[in-house]
Amino acid sequence: MTPLRFILVGLGARSRIWRQVLDEHPDCRVVGLVEADGDRLAAVARDAPETVCGPTLDDVASKVDADVALLCTPPAGRHPQIAAACTAGLAILAEKPLADTLADAEAHVAAAAEAGVPLAVGLNFRYLAVTQALKKLCSADRLGRPEFGRFTYERWRDGHLPRLNKYPLTMAQPMLWEQSIHHFDLMRFVYDAEPVQVSARTFNPSWSMYESDANVGALISFTGGVEVTYQGTWAGNWQQMGFEWRTECERGIAVQGDMFGDLAYALRDDLALSPVPLRETEPWVDDARGLLEDFVGHFRDGTALPCSGADHLTSLRMVEACIRASSGEGTVRLNEHRG
Ligand SMILES: NC(=O)c1ccc[n+]([C@@H]2O[C@H](COP(=O)([O-])OP(=O)(O)OC[C@H]3O[C@@H](n4cnc5c(N)ncnc54)[C@H](O)[C@@H]3O)[C@@H](O)[C@H]2O)c1
Repeated sequence: MTPLRFILVGLGARSRIWRQVLDEHPDCRVVGLVEADGDRLAAVARDAPETVCGPTLDDVASKVDADVALLCTPPAGRHPQIAAACTAGLAILAEKPLADTLADAEAHVAAAAEAGVPLAVGLNFRYLAVTQALKKLCSADRLGRPEFGRFTYERWRDGHLPRLNKYPLTMAQPMLWEQSIHHFDLMRFVYDAEPVQVSARTFNPSWSMYESDANVGALISFTGGVEVTYQGTWAGNWQQMGFEWRTECERGIAVQGDMFGDLAYALRDDLALSPVPLRETEPWVDDARGLLEDFVGHFRDGTALPCSGADHLTSLRMVEACIRASSGEGTVRLNEHRG
């Protein structure tokens, strides 16, 4: 059987992980490379002489037979890429966030549906061993039903580091669109619940290197009565990362103490936390492998498309609700969202 043929669009920071996991997957092959920066394209193309290369997806898709366009471009301005994929009948795997406005993301999902091409989003954090173990813990009888939680993510993110992308330095609401989107998606995934209403405040501390808000505080109510207090920042003023996601359930708590692991629980009268053993994983790589496996499974075995664009819209509505709430709309109800 011919491997699933991918055109990789955007050859920046994130694409390196995808090139690695695609290259090692026996049922996937990169047949095309697209990059707007000619020097960057030439540098990657040197190591991939068999691929068709070009500056636009339109151009490359017209020169090579492929099955999937994997978008690793910045989220703004993806209309031509989505249109080119739809015209060529390519399935789309787009890095999160699908767009940097809800309206654009909705347009992308509608365009893919109209063209009949599957559209999935790169929500790799769902595939971390710690995420899957936390989801299990929160749905098991031992702790009982989750009722409230506190999610804190405090990071000094030096956006000038050469290995990091640069567009978040100047985009609107970088913390929300680029980082909180993962967190909101994880809350929905782990609690198996949908957002009902959001109040929020976003702001930018005086020492932030980002032009727009690096801080988000939000109160989020979910179906099933789960209430979450969220604090996320890229301008936490200490180099050491702070991460804690504590969930209060009927009989005890679950605590995730690190982005990539450190999961424990306690029943109300326990004197200490009990660690939850997790399988060894390589952060960023194994979670991308897991997502790719499910994505390939959709085409090979007819399993459900993972992380569909339509599902992702709900997490993007949470982002948009935070922006609206912070700009004076008060508490935003998600089931009354506009059009
Ligand atoms: N899932 C994750 O854990 C994760 C991690 C990092 C980044 N990302 C996401 O991946 C995407 C890309 O981020 P990045 O860090 O690689 O950014 P980046 O700026 O490092 O790379 C983007 C690349 O796309 C190229 N590009 C821009 N517009 C293009 C166009 N129209 N056609 C062809 N090439 C174009 C740029 O020249 C650049 O090389 C973003 O959506 C980001 O949020 C996801």
